[in-house]
Amino acid sequence: MKAVVLYDTAYGNTRTIAESVASGLGRGAAAVPVGGFDPGALHPGDLLVVGSPINGWKPTARITEALAELGRRGLTGVKAAAFDTRVKMFIHGDAARKIAEALAAAGAGIIGEPMAFYVKGSEGPLIDGEAERAAAWAAGLAASLGSGNE
Ligand SMILES: Cc1cc2nc3c(=O)[nH]c(=O)nc-3n(C[C@H](O)[C@H](O)[C@H](O)COP(=O)(O)O)c2cc1C
Repeated sequence: MKAVVLYDTAYGNTRTIAESVASGLGRGAAAVPVGGFDPGALHPGDLLVVGSPINGWKPTARITEALAELGRRGLTGVKAAAFDTRVKMFIHGDAARKIAEALAAAGAGIIGEPMAFYVKGSEGPLIDGEAERAAAWAAGLAASLGSGNE
């Protein structure tokens, strides 16, 4: 199986989290920016994790477009999970849950709860420990899939 961590970023914080998720997943997982993503490269049995900054209570336009394309192609047999990055505010909206819902609507099997990682301000930096928490979250996802074949 292949493991891909698809992400978008404006200031680099979501890229840092995506790279931590890829490293926590192991299995040769790669963090792939949304501009370089080939939706046709996913196959049944693969794992897809999608992450986005929250922009106005939802995922970025580029992630939304990628999810629409995945919806057209279908994700039957693909396991998937979602995360977002956000500012710790009283009301911040949600992107990870919307991503997970789009992945499920495309036919993916969702593993794990959508997860939020926090930045100190719009441009970052990440709150201390978030990169490590992302790697641990991803290791938990990988463990839930079992030992796998790779
Ligand atoms: C246009 C814009 C809209 C944003 N909207 C939200 C929001 O609704 N809720 C929130 O928690 N953070 C919001 N943020 C903060 C982003 O989540 C933050 O910039 C992001 O996590 C940083 O990740 P990045 O470095 O990968 O771009 C917004 C940021 C921008 C630039």
